[in-house]
Amino acid sequence: MENSNEKDASRGSFGSKIGFILAAAGSAVGLGNIWRFPYLAAKYGGGLFLLVYLIFAITFGFTLMLTEIAIGRRTGKSVIGAYKTVDKRFAPLGWLAAAIPALILPYYCVIGGWVLKYMTIFITGGGSEIATKSYGTASDGSDISFFSDFISHAGQPAIFFVIYVLVGSIAVLLGVEKGIEKVSKILMPVLLVLIVGIGIYTLTLDGSGEGLKYYVVPDKDSITPSMLLKTIAAAVGQLFYSMSIAMGIMVTYGSYMRKEDSIEGSVRQIEVFDTAVAFLAGLIIVPAVFVFSGKDKLNAGPGLMFITLPKVFDSMPAGQFIGAAFFILVVLAALTSSISLMETVTAVVIEKFKLSRVKSCVIVIIFTLIVGMLSVLGYSTWSDVEIFGMQILDFFDFSTNNIMMPILAFLTCIMIGYVVKTKYIEEEVIHGEKKFKSKGLYNVMIKVVCPICMIIILITPFVTKI
Ligand code: PFF
Repeated sequence: MENSNEKDASRGSFGSKIGFILAAAGSAVGLGNIWRFPYLAAKYGGGLFLLVYLIFAITFGFTLMLTEIAIGRRTGKSVIGAYKTVDKRFAPLGWLAAAIPALILPYYCVIGGWVLKYMTIFITGGGSEIATKSYGTASDGSDISFFSDFISHAGQPAIFFVIYVLVGSIAVLLGVEKGIEKVSKILMPVLLVLIVGIGIYTLTLDGSGEGLKYYVVPDKDSITPSMLLKTIAAAVGQLFYSMSIAMGIMVTYGSYMRKEDSIEGSVRQIEVFDTAVAFLAGLIIVPAVFVFSGKDKLNAGPGLMFITLPKVFDSMPAGQFIGAAFFILVVLAALTSSISLMETVTAVVIEKFKLSRVKSCVIVIIFTLIVGMLSVLGYSTWSDVEIFGMQILDFFDFSTNNIMMPILAFLTCIMIGYVVKTKYIEEEVIHGEKKFKSKGLYNVMIKVVCPICMIIILITPFVTKI
């Protein structure tokens, strides 16, 4: 086991603790919070899901995030170098941790492009039209929505995807302190103001109380053992997704963290930020959909944000304005997440190929554009192409989130819990503070609970479709 506490000063670092927290929170707060969390919460019994999610966030999420940040800061390297430095035998994990963001980044930017398109439509006053107009008739006689029509032609999604990638890459090109930290310090407070503002507004709408009740109060009658198990699996899966865990990001951001700052305190604050935004997003979406489209529409899944919500905004007083604010919010949240994915891959290229930041970032941009185009085409020109029964974008999403990430997290737990031992993490945690306050909880989680949760996540999609 190498013990490198030496950091390469030329790599750059965050200039302040708040800069690190906002950048990491920016990574965590993304499409997962605004689009995925609300519909999962609605599907798995509202209040019950919230409770289970919260318990796992402060135990499981805390443990994995702290582990990654500590590994990053202790080694001071990008993911590939970091895992190798912790233990040479676990070096392949570094490659896995680099492959995950490289595969996620392109498709995440494709969805970012969709959101950018929606933001443009709402800002230019076209929100009502896309909510109500029919874009043709499907083979089953139903109306074709704007969304289905939009993604089924490659041109526009491709253009918005390219714009989104180029805008997102500016922060990475500018570097850690001047780019990522600065952008996060501006965007994250704006995001918070927007989400709180829209949340307060939707709660003042007539009838939203019913929707709010549905969102926060568990429906006792629907709680069965199998429902509870499914809720746990869904909550753990969502947590993983939401906190940007097991995609190399927190290792990379940890490697830029100042030695004097507290890891434990920072993780707690990132968690609160991430969970609060997810909760507030649900507070906006669930009662509004409940009031304007009805309870059954809450199960719309991916279509909730792109098909149902524009209809909701259309029926709501000042809906065009709120819709524009909402999609600006989603673009900001998605941008700070894709910046973190891009930074993780760029850091690997800088370190492995000894190239400058600008050259490395350009390579990553070109790669993202090529691979992302596959996902764009997968919904349009190549809509017949299926990989294991999935469309191209869904395949990238499934293979990373359901297979590669749980495997990486599982093996990271084994490496820290049983091979290099938890002292490795503890030594780094007590660098910035006197005591590792949650040491007892941490040890149990990393050795027992987290590996079990990972196995549950790995097998759930194969056993039951949740
Ligand atoms: N944590 C971010 C989100 O919730 O959107 C970023 C992210 C999660 C990116 C999962 C990609 C991903 F597969």
